[in-house]
Amino acid sequence: MKSSRKHHGRLAAAEADTLRHAPERLYVGELRLTDFRNYATAKLSLDARPVVLVGDNGSGKTNLLEAVSLLSAGQGLRGRPYSELCRKTGAGGFAIAARVTSRHGEVEIGTGIAAGTPETATGRVVRIGGKEQSAGALADHVKLVWLIPAMDGLFTGPASERRRFLDRLVVTVDPKMRGPLGRYDRAMRQRNRLFQLREYAGALFAGLEEQMAEAGVAIAASRRDALERLTRLIERTHATRGDGPFPHAVLALEGTLESALEDRPATEVEDEFRHALMQDRERDRAASRALAGPHLSDLIVIHGPQNAPAPHCSSGEQKALLLGLILAKAELIKELEGVSPLVLLDEVAAHLDASRREALFAEILRLNAQAWMTGTDRDLFQPIAQNAQIWSVNRGKIGA
Ligand SMILES: Nc1ncnc2c1ncn2[C@@H]1O[C@H](COP(=O)(O)OP(=O)(O)OP(=O)(O)O)[C@@H](O)[C@H]1O
Ligand SMILES: [Mg+2]
Repeated sequence: MKSSRKHHGRLAAAEADTLRHAPERLYVGELRLTDFRNYATAKLSLDARPVVLVGDNGSGKTNLLEAVSLLSAGQGLRGRPYSELCRKTGAGGFAIAARVTSRHGEVEIGTGIAAGTPETATGRVVRIGGKEQSAGALADHVKLVWLIPAMDGLFTGPASERRRFLDRLVVTVDPKMRGPLGRYDRAMRQRNRLFQLREYAGALFAGLEEQMAEAGVAIAASRRDALERLTRLIERTHATRGDGPFPHAVLALEGTLESALEDRPATEVEDEFRHALMQDRERDRAASRALAGPHLSDLIVIHGPQNAPAPHCSSGEQKALLLGLILAKAELIKELEGVSPLVLLDEVAAHLDASRREALFAEILRLNAQAWMTGTDRDLFQPIAQNAQIWSVNRGKIGA
């Protein structure tokens, strides 16, 4: 332990200055919460270094990570309805405000919902630099990747979770893809609704199937593109660094449109899919849902060094594989954007042995990422203590 402290001490001396205020980094400089989950009010002033949050179970560590995750597009790392985020004994509504330094410079971001917002409302208010914008606009300012305990079963659980993981990668690589993803989903739901309404009018179906075909092929193509980029990066890293502490993943897509795009042009695949939707209308009607399409695709993950499907690996191996995948994703974003994304790692350190933990910290420093890490045990973060900002969290209060 002693020698590692020394080693990281040296790192601190060499990098402390560049870590603190380098403008080419993405970091949260200030975070303020009002009535957010178990926080009545809270304020954190930060520099660009990694952030460590230490506190007992139930103190509010994951809640803070969730608040940070809402500084980007999407529904946050728990994906919960916004009404759930309002402090139970608060005035109703919640607010998150942050000063963020991104490649566009410093910007003030605010998001939340007002008191009195009906529980059924699905949107949130977003202000960037004082101007009201759509939540999607946040993607241009804040990129994030995260790893949370709920993702432990990613490889063994339902394909829907892997698809969400994949599509988050897709929209980080190409934020414009939020459009087709939303359009496909809406058109598919409306088509399902027509089945429920016992609607048979061909023209109604044809319009929606047209949209599904157009958006569906765009989705499948961008999944292939994003996965190819990630695969190239993983292969390159593996070729230069060999088998490191985090096993490399071999990735593949399983899906009819994704496979079709392997040997046919997009226009042809789009026509085929539209035709298939029309042909299979009665089959889908019997099931009350579309039984084929990119909403059923899956991401196949192989543990590279073992050459075994991820679900067959031990839980520790799966965790290391997943962490490697998240770090690769962060690296890919850094390559594309020029700056590292925020890396939110909830309870990750506790599940790694000492050498992997040190490797993780070294990787975070190499990425130059403002990583946000949580844990109940401060000692686990000792190797990165010199290079991080450590805060203790206690029942919705944040202290030094
Ligand atoms: N809307 C809300 N209003 C008030 N309290 C809430 C709300 N939502 C969650 N909480 C509470 O916030 C507390 C902290 O939750 P959080 O998940 O952040 O804990 P944690 O520090 O990550 O704990 P652990 O180490 O167990 O993961 C919990 O006790 C939870 O019940
Ligand atoms: Mg937690």
